[in-house]
Amino acid sequence: MTETQQILDLAVEIALDAGRIQRERYETDFKIESKSAKIDLVTEVDRECEERIVRRIQNERPLDAILAEEGGGEDRPEATWRWVVDPLDGTTNYAHGFPRFCVSIGVEREGQRHIGVVYDPLLDELYRASRGGGAWLGDRRIQVSQEERLDHALVATGFAYDVHKSAEDNFANFGRVLKASRAIRRDGSAALDLCYVAAGRLDAYWEFKLHAWDVAAGILIADEAGGRSTDVDGNVAPGSGREIVCSNGLLHDEILALLRRNEQHA
Ligand code: IPD
Ligand code: CA
Ligand code: CA
Repeated sequence: MTETQQILDLAVEIALDAGRIQRERYETDFKIESKSAKIDLVTEVDRECEERIVRRIQNERPLDAILAEEGGGEDRPEATWRWVVDPLDGTTNYAHGFPRFCVSIGVEREGQRHIGVVYDPLLDELYRASRGGGAWLGDRRIQVSQEERLDHALVATGFAYDVHKSAEDNFANFGRVLKASRAIRRDGSAALDLCYVAAGRLDAYWEFKLHAWDVAAGILIADEAGGRSTDVDGNVAPGSGREIVCSNGLLHDEILALLRRNEQHA
């Protein structure tokens, strides 16, 4: 078995395990706190999932680097492999009992996206990809949509946690794309949004001010499904998550033409 396959299998096992915790604790009485802003939440379940994920990676792959959202990771600049973990993507949804959240685990090899696993525990949907190996939903290979018309397209976006304070709030982009597309969704999980582009459920998705852990797995899954992922200028999508425009490729240029970075809302 190749090392890629071993790591992919491990990432799947770890994601299923964290997803089981999320399913068990869903709509129970867990502690909720704020982080960078009043609306940026973290729950006990985010922390518990991260601890389990990090512990398992450290046990099985002690030489690998780990970047994990809640700070439990371990940086190792000399490591070949780096795990980029969002233990619970969709925390606001989770805190409200809105059934849309997931575990997201990306693994980079020498700085390049190599493996992606996203698990939606309520729908029991497991998305996975490895570089060059295609994108899969369970045992079915997935492909982006073939939609060529933006006015027939379903598009998703999101708004950053600084939205109460920042005038760069994505509102004008939202308005332009809303009027040009069939409809827009704001579902609250960037990793699932990217997987939905991969599966052809969405035709495109964009967002600003995300973090590496939000996009590490999802971009690879969408790209392996035939999608295109860039920044607003059409350059390679940054690993930082600072901006992401992801589409079926056919609609990409039309969407890019509507989006502006750092646009101030009047
Ligand atoms: C958030 C979700 C959301 C996006 C936010 C992210 P979290 O991640 O992906 O859809 O709009 O910007 O931070 O905080 O739930 O892990
Ligand atoms: Ca996230
Ligand atoms: Ca999270």
